[in-house]
Amino acid sequence: MIIITVCVGSSCYLRGAHKIATAFEGSILRHGLRGKVELQGAFCMNRCLEGVAVSVNGEPLPRATEENCEDLFRRYVLGEVK
Ligand code: FES
Repeated sequence: MIIITVCVGSSCYLRGAHKIATAFEGSILRHGLRGKVELQGAFCMNRCLEGVAVSVNGEPLPRATEENCEDLFRRYVLGEVK
């Protein structure tokens, strides 16, 4: 199981964490990976100045935006799916 964690702490929430979570949820569904990739929320991940904080299996991702979520998903998640 691959876990994508999106911070929903107050700073990330104000920066649009729900949009990032929705984008990753869309990627999971589009690639048919429900049951293999799980999306979860976390409170402050101590990266408040980096935009919406996201990690995959605990490894921080580069800055996530609505526009680059699919690219991040392809780069950091798809290759890990077994
Ligand atoms: S609120 Fe998201 S990293 Fe701090």
